[in-house]
Amino acid sequence: MERHGAYLNGVWVVATELVPNVNPSDVTDVIGLFADADQELLDQAVVAARSAQPGWAAQSPQVRADLLDRVGAAIDADATALGTLLAREEGKTLPEAIGEVRRAAQIFRFHAGEALRLVGDFQDSIRAGVSVTHVREPVGVVGVITPWNFPISIPAWKCAPALAHGNTVILKPAELVPASAIALAEILDRAGCPPGVFNVVTGRGSNIGAHLVSHPDIDAVTFTGSEEVGVSIAAATAGRLVRVQLELGGKNPLVVMADADLDLAVDCAVDGAFMSTGQRCTATSRIYVEEPIYQIFVDRLLARTESLRIGHALDPATQIGPVVDGRQLAHVVDRIEGARALTDVQVHGGRHVRAATDGHFLTPAVVIGAGNECEINRSETFGPVASVQSVADLDQAIKRANDTAYGLVAGICTSSLRAATEFRRRADTGIVTVNLPTAGVDPHVAFGGRKRSGFGPKEQGRYAQEFYTQVKTAYERA
Ligand code: UN1
Repeated sequence: MERHGAYLNGVWVVATELVPNVNPSDVTDVIGLFADADQELLDQAVVAARSAQPGWAAQSPQVRADLLDRVGAAIDADATALGTLLAREEGKTLPEAIGEVRRAAQIFRFHAGEALRLVGDFQDSIRAGVSVTHVREPVGVVGVITPWNFPISIPAWKCAPALAHGNTVILKPAELVPASAIALAEILDRAGCPPGVFNVVTGRGSNIGAHLVSHPDIDAVTFTGSEEVGVSIAAATAGRLVRVQLELGGKNPLVVMADADLDLAVDCAVDGAFMSTGQRCTATSRIYVEEPIYQIFVDRLLARTESLRIGHALDPATQIGPVVDGRQLAHVVDRIEGARALTDVQVHGGRHVRAATDGHFLTPAVVIGAGNECEINRSETFGPVASVQSVADLDQAIKRANDTAYGLVAGICTSSLRAATEFRRRADTGIVTVNLPTAGVDPHVAFGGRKRSGFGPKEQGRYAQEFYTQVKTAYERA
């Protein structure tokens, strides 16, 4: 069995405690033993990142761009092997996993360009003979805490812009998916990343994650994960006024208007709700269908849902892989059973099933007739569950769509430009989609939510520089 340590200061450090990384498609398949690092190891990573940071920031931006470009190329060259590893440890299907790996490569290449594109601006002072420049400088040492559902692309979209802009990084990936983060460290190492610039420490969030966010020598924390942990990070960092970026849950609505292309709307619903086993913060969980097409939409959605093949992530016939682990499976089943127990609510699917291998397999669930006040429509489920309701018109659909604590993505399927425009204007979310699934975002544009879905500057694209740089205003008299 392969044993993996932490990567810090450019070397691999053995940890005393190791934990197995188990394949959710087949719990008899152990991917390897990974460090359950202690706080002392994390402290060493912070020291390494701190001492490397001034030198990294002083490098020519071309050096940073070249490194990120080499990393992007290496990820692409290894996409099948990395995708297979990712599918094994996380459970998304192989095509989804390879797609995620390619997205990580695109992100590194985009931010290679950003390292060179970063500019300040210049203007004259109101005092004659004085000029003013705004320059963007790195923030310093960034703590990066990433979730299990995107084991390589979320580390990429946080670490690539951090490094592009002259920061150094300590990555703490989710306990369930250490292998992809370690693979990323191997790639950065081979690409010639200077010691201490990029560090990965694997272990428990409650131990080293909490230690990282309250560490006095961290300048910024970026986190994607649950709302509960996000709120605790905001509290832990507030006292030290540490810059924080939080990407949290979603309860994303898809509105289907009577004038929608029905096939497209069903495709958007199935893709948004069930692909990646619904384990995406962008997943569609509430579907509001205009009354005239409600019944036909429900019939088509049920037929499509029942035809989906659930199984081992690496089986080419599989369309939906397992839930990530037994705990998450129990949580999702509990939510589904809560809905099944309601009167006047029907639940189709949502059963723990057996397959050829011993994995955490769940049939996708469609909940019909649960109102907005029900738990299934209020708290994030993070599993393959879609709840469908009928609505009278666009106005009612928008009001119901916005009736949530979350604000990540809202989608609409319609052939009316008027309806799409009104929906875009009134949706209280960070992202709006029209005739597209709510999930599956581009690598080069802003990403982030409102309300309880997100806090702090946006991620990705050019907007990423807001979090990973700080502005300095310089007044100069010649
Ligand atoms: C996507 O839907 O393409 O954790 C990305 C998540 C999000 C990323 C979703 N931060 O699910």
